[in-house]
Amino acid sequence: MCGIVAYLGQREATPILTEGLKRLEYRGYDSAGIAVIRDGELLIRRSVGRISALEQKIGSDLAGTTVGIAHTRWATHGAPTESNAHPHCDANGRLALIHNGIIENYRVLRTFLEEQGIEFASETDTEVLAQLIGHFYDGNLGKAVRRALREVRGTFGIAVLHVDEPDTIVAARRGSPLIIGIGKDEYVIASDASAIIQHTPQVIYLSDNEVAVVSRDGFHTTNLEAAPVTKEIEEVEWKLEQLELGEHQHFMAKEIFEQPEALRNGMRGRIELPDGKVVLGGLAPAMRELVRCKRIILTACGTAWHASLVGEYLIEDIARIPCEVEYASEFRYRNPLISDGTVVIAISQSGETADTLAALREAQEKGALTLGIVNSVGSTIARETDAGVYLHVGPEIGVASTKAFTGQVTILAMLAALLGRRRHMSHAACQEYLNALSKMPEAIEKALELTSQTRQIAARFIESNNWLYLGRGLQYPIALEGALKLKEISYIHAEGLPAAEMKHGPIALINEDMPVVIIAVHDHLYEKVVSNIEEVRSRGGHVIAVATEGDENIRHLAEDILYVPDVPAALQPLVTVIPLQLLAYHAAVLRGCDVDKPRNLAKSVTVE
Ligand code: G6P
Repeated sequence: MCGIVAYLGQREATPILTEGLKRLEYRGYDSAGIAVIRDGELLIRRSVGRISALEQKIGSDLAGTTVGIAHTRWATHGAPTESNAHPHCDANGRLALIHNGIIENYRVLRTFLEEQGIEFASETDTEVLAQLIGHFYDGNLGKAVRRALREVRGTFGIAVLHVDEPDTIVAARRGSPLIIGIGKDEYVIASDASAIIQHTPQVIYLSDNEVAVVSRDGFHTTNLEAAPVTKEIEEVEWKLEQLELGEHQHFMAKEIFEQPEALRNGMRGRIELPDGKVVLGGLAPAMRELVRCKRIILTACGTAWHASLVGEYLIEDIARIPCEVEYASEFRYRNPLISDGTVVIAISQSGETADTLAALREAQEKGALTLGIVNSVGSTIARETDAGVYLHVGPEIGVASTKAFTGQVTILAMLAALLGRRRHMSHAACQEYLNALSKMPEAIEKALELTSQTRQIAARFIESNNWLYLGRGLQYPIALEGALKLKEISYIHAEGLPAAEMKHGPIALINEDMPVVIIAVHDHLYEKVVSNIEEVRSRGGHVIAVATEGDENIRHLAEDILYVPDVPAALQPLVTVIPLQLLAYHAAVLRGCDVDKPRNLAKSVTVE
């Protein structure tokens, strides 16, 4: 979604800002803009489309300054036009502001400002905020920002400049992340650490309703009432090379192929094989309550929701604890029943998804113990939960989530073993399970060898506009995830279903033009899935089976077979998802789609 970068220091600001915007491109955007102060003048450039279009517009015009703010916008209020792009100004054109989030009461505020004679240049809620701060400005930008934000309902991450205070940037947040990178004699403020880490690993994370006034003499943080707040300086562990493509053409491919290593990192130091034990240090503060819990609710959105469905099977089967999965967007408004002993676990790659965060807060309001399974270190969900586990799979840049998915499933598999062992599982059974889990990176490496076969299949069906994905049991969430991957990046319509449900309606769609991906690995449902394959075949559907290595029987049933390594049933989702990720990736490349920045999608959805 929208991205913020701001710079104040000794170096040329413009290249640092545009480079920062490029680091945020992956989040999804449709227009971009920049404002700098030079010789007492506010200079602004905005453009629709890619950062490269903005760079062309800037040319060499904005050289010779060391302070500025820049933004990528993902349209919410008002179309993606140049006039709606950020930065927005106050009525005198002396203040510039960039904003992530939504000002919910912007209509009331706009009417109030119009009554004061202020004219608006855009349709955005953001301009209302810029005008409001301008309205309150009396020579102290920090004070004006705090004053205006006290009137605002909604969410914001903002950075503000004023020509009368050319050595100051004011930043503030509520519900939309903002990080201040602290370098040597310079500050880089951004909504995402990826725009900061090439400059400095030292950061502070602003919390909700905090305002930072950053100047050449240092920075100070307060709440909206101007009471000082002390912030801790933390270190971002991501490395710059994790944000580079390396030998790959797309981040999605890089991240698909990184999965073995990512999972090794996610499991490192957490599995003690001789003891048959899982150690998740981040859960320590909540361990007593967690082990005694009566019910677990997993809440998430998108791909993380699919990982949660796998988690539900694992937690019920291995830990024997009742577990439910809830779409965060539904859970938050449903007035959910949270009884004594309920643990709510929010699962999120970014740790910033607005619905997941709201679901978490709803659970906290109702007294649940809340945990997070999050990738982004220091993110809001990570900080607001009672305890949690980081994925440690490294930054995920491709909008279509891949390594975060397998990372989430791996953590859930470890959590199931941890709880199972504490409740009823034997040492030997746990050891065997963990032994198999720790070997999953090698099994994934093997599954990645399917890349050329998946490319061929994708090429053969590239004209098909409808695909079906079927799976049962643990493979049902994988069918959903496979279909989502295809939709997201290749814009081909795909539906994922529990295989047996097909006969209750979707079977009417099947004909010879319909590729049907069926996950038919060796588990207790294999025979049932075979019957479902027969149902597809007898209607002329083309079957692409994901099957267990060595399964000869399937050769009579499927036109295409993607063999994955034979691993214990509970861990099969970690290998069966691999060919489906590859299939979607190759289909998108063959269709000429923008794999890493698919249309209309955002990496991190920080609005409702
Ligand atoms: C967006 C992304 C998805 C992601 C979902 C949840 O829709 O495009 O890839 O699965 O948000 O994101 P989270 O960061 O909470 O896992």
